[in-house]
Amino acid sequence: MITAVAHPNIALIKYWGKSNEELILPVTSSISVTLAAYETRTTVELLPAVLQDQATINGQVLEGAELKKITNFLNIIRQRATAANLSEARHFARVTSTNTVPTAAGLASSASGYAALAVAAATAYGLELGQQELSKLARRGSGSAARSLFGGFALWNAGEDDSTSYAEQLVWSGEPVEMIIGVISTAQKHTSSRNAMRVTAETSPFFDAWKSSNTKNVEAALRAIEIGDFVSLGELTEQSTMQMHAVMLSSNPSIRFLAQDSFELFDACTRYRNEGHTVYATADAGPNVKMICLAKDSKQILKRLQDDFPEIDFLISKIGGAPQVLEEQS
Ligand code: PMV
Repeated sequence: MITAVAHPNIALIKYWGKSNEELILPVTSSISVTLAAYETRTTVELLPAVLQDQATINGQVLEGAELKKITNFLNIIRQRATAANLSEARHFARVTSTNTVPTAAGLASSASGYAALAVAAATAYGLELGQQELSKLARRGSGSAARSLFGGFALWNAGEDDSTSYAEQLVWSGEPVEMIIGVISTAQKHTSSRNAMRVTAETSPFFDAWKSSNTKNVEAALRAIEIGDFVSLGELTEQSTMQMHAVMLSSNPSIRFLAQDSFELFDACTRYRNEGHTVYATADAGPNVKMICLAKDSKQILKRLQDDFPEIDFLISKIGGAPQVLEEQS
């Protein structure tokens, strides 16, 4: 029985759109930062006597399509275990997962979820995989999970095939940063990222422009990270965010994840910057807004946000670490 803990990550330079749906290969590379505030804790236990996998998330038993997703993911691991002549490969598994990330609310629960499952299941099935291989594996569950194999900053290289699409560690050389999360809603999103990406890629007249502009965003952000330039990284974060939401809006049917409150928080960040606070906002497939700032300023910015938006819950997150295997019991 193996338990692993992983943290979600928030993309600064976004991933939106796939070049291969089955392998989950993205149309551009992306860059993220891992959050300490939330976690997924997943236990995988091999069950020699049962005829199918079992899974629960936060005590809810998964069935039908949801269980199938887990089984498909475990099948990839079992195939690798078979190829490596590991006897564990014959067994089905019980997966028990608890999540402190609100599920499917644009707070990256699938990233921590599949990162924790990749680590726990690979270990339970006897595979000894390095972070790069685990990143490729996690990617097959949810693209953004590829980046949660690393603490701090990570680059997911788009790559061209299964073996070249994986995340790697980036070293941030600037002052320590933190994120402030504005929880506008924990309701599940109205459409999955998978579906929304497909609609965008198939119907937006701006999709090619998104690919080329975001590729440039990645290159510029890599330079900013290398030299520790927080202002440039923040500006690129807001640009990639707005370009992603713009390409979604331009799809048919139009896809909109941001709410009125989300825009108000973006505007507040602009105001706070004019007052001298370096804080930049981003949002994903949901209305919640995550704001990146220098750690030394986070408490002051939090206070401003709480005064200006008493109806919104905010929390400060430190930067999270890589997944960890917690306990090994036989
Ligand atoms: O990995 P998915 O399918 O949950 O897609 C995540 C997409 C965004 O969160 C919107 C952007 C990103 O790069 O994480």
